[in-house]
Amino acid sequence: MITSLTSESIQDIQADAIVVGLSGNALTGFAAELNEATSGGLQSLLDAGQAKSKVGATTSWLQPTGIQAPVIVTVGLGDTPNAGDCFKAAGAAAKILADQQRSSVAFYFPELDSALLESAVAGSVVGSQGQDLHKKTKSLYPPEQILWASTNADAVTAGENIATGVNLTRTLVNQPPNYIYPESFADQAAELGQLKNVSVEIWDQERLEAENCGSLLGVAQGSDKAPRLAILRYTGKDSENPSLAIVGKGVTYDSGGLSLKPSEGQKTMKCDMAGAATVVGTIKAIAEMELPCHVVGLVGLVENMVSGNSYRLGDVLTARNGKTIEVLNTDAEGRLVLADVLDVTLGLNPDHIVDLATLTGACCVALGLDIAGLFTNDQSWCDQIIQSAAAVGEEVWQLPMTPHFSDQLKSKIADLRNIGAGRWGGAITAAKFLEEFVGDASWTHMDIAGPAFADSAKSYIDGGASGVMVRTLVNIARGM
Ligand code: BES
Ligand code: MN
Ligand code: ZN
Repeated sequence: MITSLTSESIQDIQADAIVVGLSGNALTGFAAELNEATSGGLQSLLDAGQAKSKVGATTSWLQPTGIQAPVIVTVGLGDTPNAGDCFKAAGAAAKILADQQRSSVAFYFPELDSALLESAVAGSVVGSQGQDLHKKTKSLYPPEQILWASTNADAVTAGENIATGVNLTRTLVNQPPNYIYPESFADQAAELGQLKNVSVEIWDQERLEAENCGSLLGVAQGSDKAPRLAILRYTGKDSENPSLAIVGKGVTYDSGGLSLKPSEGQKTMKCDMAGAATVVGTIKAIAEMELPCHVVGLVGLVENMVSGNSYRLGDVLTARNGKTIEVLNTDAEGRLVLADVLDVTLGLNPDHIVDLATLTGACCVALGLDIAGLFTNDQSWCDQIIQSAAAVGEEVWQLPMTPHFSDQLKSKIADLRNIGAGRWGGAITAAKFLEEFVGDASWTHMDIAGPAFADSAKSYIDGGASGVMVRTLVNIARGM
């Protein structure tokens, strides 16, 4: 729970710890107040190079004299912070202070505009939550209360609501695959139906069969866990058609199927439902914020497993839109799931579609682990997403959709095959496959295989799931 502080001075605030954001060279605002209260203590730390205003640089200052709080963490925001800097700086400070249970941590940042303040507040909530879901002794302890010195209570509340969505996404992804499987994921999605203006519809195996989702069902058939498709509708505005559809890949575990992944590749494949978890976290945030928009989220939930009933290499699947697909690699399963979910999406007539998927290792090769790949059939829609990502400080980069990549998806026996001719440009051939299922709708695909999940912690966020793109998507929904 976050409370805005409007009058409590940095000197008198009764909190377990204080975070002070430092920007530029001169001490102004709260930093100047703190310096005065500590008789020039802060200036001395800066002069000694102990405290820095460099983005993300932190210093712990224990038992400072002249103020009530027993601990200060200083964190740098740079000269002209952007939203990403604010998110990371607040996250880094929050993560340091989450080393033990504290009842309250008070943040004193320089005056920021609403967008930057929101990012900072979100960072403070995200940074203090860890992936230690099943540890008896936790690694990180979110403070019972975060206090934020600002008169802009709306931005503080918005930042908190956005972070709640990000953290929901992270928790869903971080939960192990024996906890989160299609049915249990769908149950969690259904809980959002309790929020104002949210309704959730779940399709079970029987319904998926009746709807001819043969592509999704082909992937699912090797698992003992039955598949699901969840449709989450948020109607914060009365319009017949949704302005935005957010579609997510929800492979709750990707063993690779008969094209089995080696152990090394399987270890983190609980993260293969990150796209779906991003959809759920985004709808949660939008609903908590009561945004005046009409957005639908659709997630396809399957487990890609090996059994006597697994789909085979050489099988031909018939997708919901009637296209036939020759399966030549059962590890290229995400696109098969999305094929049918995208077709269901078209039936809802959204103005724009964005899908999110941990789709290809090739996208990580192309862009590294911190940048999401974008692919589109509508440049102005993609540009809107690029601008939104920049506004909240999340990293995206567009890759080309040159027509000749589609040549690689030709099959001798069916309309399409599910992999390209070789490994080169694998993120693009995957996107080209998806494009076959969106008709002439305005669509952008985000490959989040890199940034969705990290092996190790960063300064501002624990290892595991990142919740990446929830903030960007909320920002897009805001403009609709
Ligand atoms: N879920 C994986 C992609 C992935 C890899 C996500 C690493 C996160 C981290 C996906 O289903 C997959 O296995 N893709 C294959 C496609 C190939 C068989 C054409 C890949 O990237 O190797
Ligand atoms: Mn796979
Ligand atoms: Zn996968």
